[in-house]
Amino acid sequence: MRIVDIIIKKRDKQELSSEEINFFIDEFAKGNVPDYQASAWAMAVLLNGMTPRETTTLTMAMVNSGEIIDLSDAVEIAVDKHSTGGVGDKTTLVVEPVVAACGLPVGKMSGRGLGFSGGTLDKMESVPGFRTDLDTEEFLKQLNEIGLVLTGQTGDLAPADGKLYALRDVTGTVPSLPLIASSIMSKKIAAGAHRIVLDVKLGLGAFMETEEEARVLAEIMVKIGDLAGRKTVALLSDMNQPLGVAVGNSLEVIEAIDTLKGKGPEDFYLHCLEVAAHMLHLGGKADSPKSAEKMVAQAIQDGSGLEMFRKLVIAQEGDVSYIDNPEKFLKANFIEEVLAPEEGYIKEINARKVGELSVELGAGRTKKTDPVDHAVGLMIHRNVGDYVKKGDLLATIHANQEEMVKYSREILLDTHKFSDAEVEPIPLFYGVID
Ligand code: URA
Repeated sequence: MRIVDIIIKKRDKQELSSEEINFFIDEFAKGNVPDYQASAWAMAVLLNGMTPRETTTLTMAMVNSGEIIDLSDAVEIAVDKHSTGGVGDKTTLVVEPVVAACGLPVGKMSGRGLGFSGGTLDKMESVPGFRTDLDTEEFLKQLNEIGLVLTGQTGDLAPADGKLYALRDVTGTVPSLPLIASSIMSKKIAAGAHRIVLDVKLGLGAFMETEEEARVLAEIMVKIGDLAGRKTVALLSDMNQPLGVAVGNSLEVIEAIDTLKGKGPEDFYLHCLEVAAHMLHLGGKADSPKSAEKMVAQAIQDGSGLEMFRKLVIAQEGDVSYIDNPEKFLKANFIEEVLAPEEGYIKEINARKVGELSVELGAGRTKKTDPVDHAVGLMIHRNVGDYVKKGDLLATIHANQEEMVKYSREILLDTHKFSDAEVEPIPLFYGVID
């Protein structure tokens, strides 16, 4: 079997056999497939798709490319959540500590920024010293001791996904249903979660723009989870406009801390409430997601969620004084406001353009080896449906290069669209698939 023939077959829109998929992933994980061939194959998959059988085989091939953790020795039931990727999506930083504070252990392997969407690891690395490279032994020990882990994909777990993920980020091969489904589910299955809540984003700032595409993605991931014996639920959530206010690494960590203190933006808080409630319900801590919402609200009100976040940072060697005094986070050199040029109702804030701009500011990567600037980003203060007067604050730019300020202002003004007529707010969720 030759790698080039497998690329050609997918390029020519043919279905790959399980042997071909297993061979490709096995060789790729071993380092025998150069990046150019893996990228060409990923592009062929993006353009021509995969059948559900190919997608399931690809997922299991990626799972089997490395170690598979059994969490049963560390905890009775571990839940995990994973988002398909969004702009301003710092949900993990709030829901994981809150769920852990409610007594349900959470062990999560997160990713870095992908395309225009941010990554939890990049965000958490804004906290000086915070380690995202725990090995399996450390992962299990911490899960058992404090009931919460938030680390990167160790080289041992789904290594084929780890390598492909980094390539997809910089080769325009992110928004592919089979590649997203296999990437997420291989990590979740390999990391051993017994129950999984998926946050499937849809809209302008999501990899799946339409509800229909997002539903198909959600359904295949739920099916793969069930086939692997992991009870899985998917929420379809909005990503037309940025989630919350902050977009950018340390800005998002600060917003997560505020939310854990009960002072976060309302849309973001409500989003976290729903995701955390589904995790608690799936993990058997509540009879229904509705009743779990009370537990989540309580964990925020009494500070136990924030305390759990502190414990996480301390356990992973981060400087907890940044959590206690968020003003310590490094600030960008230029912090400039963008004001409304006219009055009216906001009818669109294109999340994708906001995400792309934050990458251009340095919050994400355009090449695999790019460093990430933790201080830069954007604050998007309004939501679709809000009424603003001329001169009201729309956004704040946090840039480290002066020339990016004018450029960002132009993009942000173009990104906010206005209407004279009243505009309905956008819903946070579109449904649940289980
Ligand atoms: N998150 C992942 O882990 N992988 C994807 O492909 C998209 C989002």
